[in-house]
Amino acid sequence: AMRNELSALVNTVKDPETRKAFDMEMQSFFYLFTRYLAERARSQELDWDRIKSPSEDKIVPYSKLPSGNVSNLNKLAVLKVNGGLGTSMGMTGAKSALEVKDDMTFLDLTVRQIEHLNTTHRVDVPLILMTSFNTHEDTLRIIKKYANQQLRITTFNQSRYPRIYKETLLPCPRTADDDKKHWYPPGHGDLYNALMHSGVLDQLLAEGKEYLFVSNSDNLGAVVDEKILQHMIDSKSEFIMEVTDKTKADIKGGTLIDYDGQIRLLEVAQVPNEHIEDFKSVRKFKIFNTNNLWIDLKALKRVMENEGMELDIIVNPKTTDDGQAVVQLETAAGAAIKHFNNAHGVNVPRSRFLPVKSCSDLLLIKSDIYSLEHGQLVINPNRMFETTPVIKLGDHFKKIQQFQKRFKKIPKIIELDHLTVTGDVYFGRNVTLRGTVIIVANEGQRIDIPDGCVLENRLLSGNLNM
Ligand code: UTP
Repeated sequence: AMRNELSALVNTVKDPETRKAFDMEMQSFFYLFTRYLAERARSQELDWDRIKSPSEDKIVPYSKLPSGNVSNLNKLAVLKVNGGLGTSMGMTGAKSALEVKDDMTFLDLTVRQIEHLNTTHRVDVPLILMTSFNTHEDTLRIIKKYANQQLRITTFNQSRYPRIYKETLLPCPRTADDDKKHWYPPGHGDLYNALMHSGVLDQLLAEGKEYLFVSNSDNLGAVVDEKILQHMIDSKSEFIMEVTDKTKADIKGGTLIDYDGQIRLLEVAQVPNEHIEDFKSVRKFKIFNTNNLWIDLKALKRVMENEGMELDIIVNPKTTDDGQAVVQLETAAGAAIKHFNNAHGVNVPRSRFLPVKSCSDLLLIKSDIYSLEHGQLVINPNRMFETTPVIKLGDHFKKIQQFQKRFKKIPKIIELDHLTVTGDVYFGRNVTLRGTVIIVANEGQRIDIPDGCVLENRLLSGNLNM
C-alpha cells in the first residue's frame, strides 16, 4: 500500500527533472519505512543486559591529546547541521537565524569563527550548511552577505519525507507540493544520504578534503580543534564523537555504549520504558554525545557505496493540528559510529557543548556572562565564579516570541547564581540580578520588574506593584 501511495505522490509531479529527484527521495524514504516495518515485526528492541559501558580505551580524555599540526587544516571542511526548526522554542524558521549577540545570528558567528581560523593559520577551510525545506530560505538570506568574502560557503538541502498516519501507516501528503505540515526533515542522520546525493561529498574529495567536522548549528562551543584532528590522524580513526561528562540536567543526549563488543550510540528514544531511569542516571552512563563529529570522508564514501549507511531508526510520534496521531521516522548522525574503523569517543570539556535548547539557554548566552572573541563565546573575566548561573524560566517564557516580549532588555547577571521565574513576569530595561533571585507571579497575576531595578537574593511573589 505504501509503495502505491508513494508512486501516486511521484506522479503528481509534472516536470521530469523534479520528478526524478522527488522519486529518488521517496525511494530512500521507502527503504527507511521497510526497515521500520521489519524491525517492528521482530519487535526489535535492544537487549538491555547486553549493553555495557564502553571500555576505557574507547573514551580518550581530551587532556591527553598532543598538540596539533596546523597544516592538517587544509584537509578539513566544516559542516553545520541546520535543518531543524527548534520546535521546543516555538520557532517557525531556522533557529540559527536568531540573533544571539551584537546583532549577529548563530550563522554569522559561525562564519566569524571560520574566517578567523582561515586568516590566523592561512588555510582554506570551507563551511558547508545542511538545510531543510524549513530552513533553506532563512539560511540563504543570512549567508548572502558573505558572497564576496574569502570564505567559501556551500549549502545543500536535506531530504523531505512524508509523515505517516500511525493507524494506517499511510503517508499524510496527497501531492508532492502538499502543505508543509505533512512533511518533515528526517533528523540529522540524513546528513550522509544528503551529502552523497547532492554531490557535495564528491566535490569535497575532489578538492582534496579528507576530514569533515560536523556539529549542530546552535552549538557555539563547537569550534575547530587542531588537537582532535591530529588525534584522529594519529589514531587512524575514521570517526570520532566528542562526548562530555553528563550532569543531572543532561537527560536528553545519547550516550556511547558497548554492544556485543561494538561501539554504538544509544538514544533515549531507543531505551525500553523500564530502563529510562537507568539511562538517565549519571552512574551507569557517565558521558553523552555532543554531536560534534569528526568523519573521514574517504571512509564515508566507502561505507555509503559498500554496506550502506543503516542507522537506528528513531520513531518520533507527533499529533497533527486536527488531533491525528502521526509518526516521523528519523535517524541521528552519531549512530553512524558503528560503521567505521577505530571509531571512538573523545571526552571534551563542557565548553565545547554550548547549545541553545531553550529560552533559558538563550538568556544565558545573550547575557553579560559571555562576550565574543572572533565569533567565539568566552566567559566574561569579571565573573567571579567558575560556573555559569542556573536559569529556569517558566512556561510563559517557553516560546521565543514570549521571551522577546518579556525582556525589554537582557538583565545584567554577572553576579547571579540562580534565577527562577514562574508566571506572567515582565522585565524592564537595565535590570540587575544578583545571587539567588526567585520571581513567582501566581495564576491571574502579573509582575513587572521596573527599569533600573536591582534584585539581590530576593524572593518576589504575588501581585506586585513596585
Ligand atoms: P535537534 O532536533 O536534536 O534539537 O537538533 P533542537 O535544535 O533542540 O530542536 P528541537 O527543539 O528539538 O526541534 C540538533 C541539530 O540538528 C539539526 C538542527 O538544526 C540542530 O542544529 N537538525 C535536526 C537537522 O539538521 N535536521 C533535522 O532533521 C533535525
